[in-house]
Amino acid sequence: MGEITCVSGSMADVPKDLLDQINRLEELFVVDTAKLKEVTNQFVSELERGLREENSTIPMNPTWCMAFPDGNETGTFLALDMGGTNLRVCEVTLTEEKGEFDIIQSKYRMPEELKTGTADELWGYVADCLQQFIEYHHADEEIEQLPLGFTFSYPATQNYIDHGILQRWTKGFDIDGVEGKDVVPPFEAALTERGVPIKLTALVNDTTGTMIASAYTDTQMKIGCIFGTGCNAAYMENCGSIPKLAHMNLDPDLPMAINCEYGAFDNEHKVLPRTPYDIIIDKESPRPGQQSFEKMIAGLYLGEIFRLVLLDLHQNPDCNIFEGQDIGKLKKAYSLDAGFLAAIEEDPFENLSETHDLFQNSLSIVCTKPELELIRKLAELIGTRAARLSACGVAAICKKKGWQTCHVGADGSVFNKYPHFKLRGAQALKEILDWPKNKGKGKGDPIEILPSEDGSGVGAALIAALTLKRAEQGQVAGIRDPEAMIRAAQSAKKFKPALE
Ligand code: BGC
Repeated sequence: MGEITCVSGSMADVPKDLLDQINRLEELFVVDTAKLKEVTNQFVSELERGLREENSTIPMNPTWCMAFPDGNETGTFLALDMGGTNLRVCEVTLTEEKGEFDIIQSKYRMPEELKTGTADELWGYVADCLQQFIEYHHADEEIEQLPLGFTFSYPATQNYIDHGILQRWTKGFDIDGVEGKDVVPPFEAALTERGVPIKLTALVNDTTGTMIASAYTDTQMKIGCIFGTGCNAAYMENCGSIPKLAHMNLDPDLPMAINCEYGAFDNEHKVLPRTPYDIIIDKESPRPGQQSFEKMIAGLYLGEIFRLVLLDLHQNPDCNIFEGQDIGKLKKAYSLDAGFLAAIEEDPFENLSETHDLFQNSLSIVCTKPELELIRKLAELIGTRAARLSACGVAAICKKKGWQTCHVGADGSVFNKYPHFKLRGAQALKEILDWPKNKGKGKGDPIEILPSEDGSGVGAALIAALTLKRAEQGQVAGIRDPEAMIRAAQSAKKFKPALE
C-alpha cells in the first residue's frame, strides 16, 4: 500500500498512487467548456465542407428523403432494420388517425459470424428473414409487391433513394466485397431468388428514420440522432445549401435530409482530445483512421476504453491495482460493454458493493475499496466525456443552420440506457451555446433532445410512404424508376395488413 493522502469525501482512503492516477485520468478525460466550443466550431466548418466537397471527412450524404411527414400518411409498409445485434422486420400500418400507426414485428438474431462473413451469406440471411416474416403473416395471399423501407445504418452514397454505395463498414462490421458497391442489387437478387415479393422503396439511415419518425408527431423536430453502438445525426437541409448538388439544378427551396455520418468527424485529429487509449482503440479496429469521433463516444467503444485504462494501470509500475489477482479475463478485447460501465455508474451504494460483485462475477477480480473508487471515477469520466462530446455534434448542426430552438429526436442504447447521459448532454449544450443559468436541464431547454419514435420501423415506413407519394405526384428527384415506384404504390393499396 502506498502513502495515504488526506482528502475529503469518498476518496479519503485512496492511497497516493491511485490518487495520482485519478488526477491523471481527469486531465485526460475531462473536456472543459472551452474545448467543447473549439470542437463545435471545427465541427461546423467540417459540416459545411461536407456539403461542398465529395469525399470530405464528414460525408454529409444526401438521402433523397425530401419531405417531412404531415401526419396524414396512410398505408401498410414493410420495414427492415439491419442493426448491429438484431435484424428486425416490421409491418407498419400508418392509420387514418393523424400521426398514429400499428406495428407488428419479428426480431431475428444477427449471428456474430455474419459480421465478418461473406456478402452472399449476409444478403441470404436477410432475405431469409424477410421471407419467413411474409410467409408467417401472409401465407396464401396473392401479393404483387410490398414496398419496403430498409434501414441500413452505415455510410452510403445515394444517387437515388433506392440505391446506396457502401462507403465503408463501421461498428465492427467487416464483410468483404460490399464496400464501394451498391448494396441494393445483391439484396434484391437474394429476394428474387427466393421469390419474395418486395420492392425496395427507400434505403434509409437510422438517423434519417429517427428524424422522420419523430417529426410524424412533433413539428418542432429538426434533427434525428443515434447515440448507440455507433453515433450519427441527420437533419433537413435545403437543396440550395448543398453546393455539391448544384449541377443537378434542384429547386433551392426543396428540403433534403442529410445523413451527416459525423462519426467520422476529425479523422485528421485536429481538435478532439484523444487519449492514448483512443489511439489504441483506433489502431486495433478493423478500420483504423475512420470514425474518430464515434470511437470516443459510441456504445461499442465505451467499455473497451475502460478496459484499456484498467489494463494499463495494472501494468504501470507506479501504480498498484489488482495486485496478485488473475486479470486474464480483463485481458480479453471487447469483453466489457457499455452496459458494464452503466452498471458501475448506477451502483447506489456508498461502499460500491454492486461494483465489487460485478468485478468478482464478471472478471474474477476482487477489488479493494480504493480500487472501487478509482473504477467508479473512471466510469464517470468516460461516460461524461461521451455525453459532452456528443453534444458538440448537435450544437454544430444547430449553429450551422442558425437554429436557436428546436427538438432533436434521439435513439440508441446509450441515449436510452446510460445513466445521466441526457442530463450531461444538456449541460454541455448549455455551455456550448451560452444558455442562461436556469437552462441545461433537458426539459424546456431551447434545444431539447427527446426520445424518438421508432425510427428504423415507423421512420423507414414513413420514408417509403413519402417516396411513393412523391413518385405519384411526379416529383421524381432521386427516384431511379418512378414507374416502378408507382406500380409498388398501387400494389400496396391492395395489400391488407396482417392481423396481430
Ligand atoms: C454509422 C451510421 C449510423 C450510426 C448509428 C455509424 O457507425 O456509420 O450510418 O447512423 O452508426 O447507428
